[in-house]
Amino acid sequence: MDRFIIEHSRDLSGTITVSGAKNAILPIMAASLLAPGKSVLNNVPNLIDLRTMAHLLRVIGARVEYDDGYMSIDSKDVCYPEAPYELVSKMRASIYVLGPLLARLGKARVSFPGGCAIGTRPVDMHLQALEALGANIEIENGYIAATAKQLHGADIYFKKSSVGATINTLMAAVFAKGTTHLHNAAMEPEVDTTIDFLCKMGAKISGKSTTSITIEGIKDLFPVQMDMIPDRIEAGTFMIAGALSHNPITVCNCRPDHLLPLIDKLRESGCEVDVQETSITVIPAKKIKPTNIITLPHPGFPTDLQAQFTVLMCLADGVSFVEDTIFPDRFMHVAELNRLQADIQVNRNVARINGVPNLGGAEVMATDLRASAALVLAGMVAEGTTTVSRIYHIDRGYDRIEEKLNKIGAKIRREKV
Ligand code: UD1
Repeated sequence: MDRFIIEHSRDLSGTITVSGAKNAILPIMAASLLAPGKSVLNNVPNLIDLRTMAHLLRVIGARVEYDDGYMSIDSKDVCYPEAPYELVSKMRASIYVLGPLLARLGKARVSFPGGCAIGTRPVDMHLQALEALGANIEIENGYIAATAKQLHGADIYFKKSSVGATINTLMAAVFAKGTTHLHNAAMEPEVDTTIDFLCKMGAKISGKSTTSITIEGIKDLFPVQMDMIPDRIEAGTFMIAGALSHNPITVCNCRPDHLLPLIDKLRESGCEVDVQETSITVIPAKKIKPTNIITLPHPGFPTDLQAQFTVLMCLADGVSFVEDTIFPDRFMHVAELNRLQADIQVNRNVARINGVPNLGGAEVMATDLRASAALVLAGMVAEGTTTVSRIYHIDRGYDRIEEKLNKIGAKIRREKV
């Protein structure tokens, strides 16, 4: 198991580049099961979660080639519609194969995903939507068994905005007979780009970037090639690294239109943010101002940047409040940040952060993907040395984060334990 040894390094400067978006590539990999033949994805980073998904697609019968930057998925021979427990328990996004397998093969058996470090995460809305499309769903021995001779169009209202349920339903509905309307659909960029991919394959979908999406059922899709969008959460993590630094840093290959809530909050905290077409320069504040955030569905502030923004507020000149309305239990990083001499109390889903002048190095443990990114940021600003263990969490979603940060002045060493 690897760990990071991080020395105090607040003098970052220069340019850092963002990789392709994990949370967009995962559903797009699943969507490629819908079109027999070879689809090609470009701008694909080297991530454990993507390797896990590639493994799952191979188990299902697809041929997957995955090299740094590139992935091809040939789903001609897809025939084994099962996502086993070993893979789903490693990565919840495996649930994304449910919709496409049901649409293409008329059946799917997917292990029920459990909770995770950021709380209980039900899939009830995925299942209700598939049932509305005419699927028969049974839960047996910890597995979701879904069957359907022919899915049909339906009017589906989601009680909550859900990225996963919206995308799974979209993928299932492309071959449904008739028209499907999704109401209160999620509008995250990862939903939009999955719609772009499906439409490129021949699907008929309208209402992108709104909460009302319409899908006209069709008979066939064909394989395509597409560039993956940049990862807004990786970009946001680097922007916050810039806000914590003493010098400006420029985040390249990003989509500023996907990062508006963070840009707004960084400005509110006193940073200057210079936005260009595909890059953002963050000029740090002389004194960080306390700033409150509430996580919300897109275009609100993303829950996946909550832990990292909390690190910035640890050093603010006053008290800030961070409320997570998406995953109310997502505060595992707080106890670790307090080990680094932060001053944070959590009450229900709200963290009260009393800014301190400095953090101090210590040994801490990564508990989930975004929490570990927060600990890396905190380790960089803490005086002395910080050791972050269990960094396999960070390798799930960030492609060689220490190499990227070291290039702009961080001092992070990966060590095998
Ligand atoms: C995705 C992202 C995750 C991000 C989250 C919110 C991937 C692989 N993961 O997760 O990084 O934090 O969006 O932006 O893309 N819910 C239900 N029932 C359901 C489904 C969801 O109650 O059937 C609830 C969840 O518990 C949560 C809210 O809906 O409170 C939003 O979750 P959702 O958008 O579905 O998150 P994921 O797609 O799992």
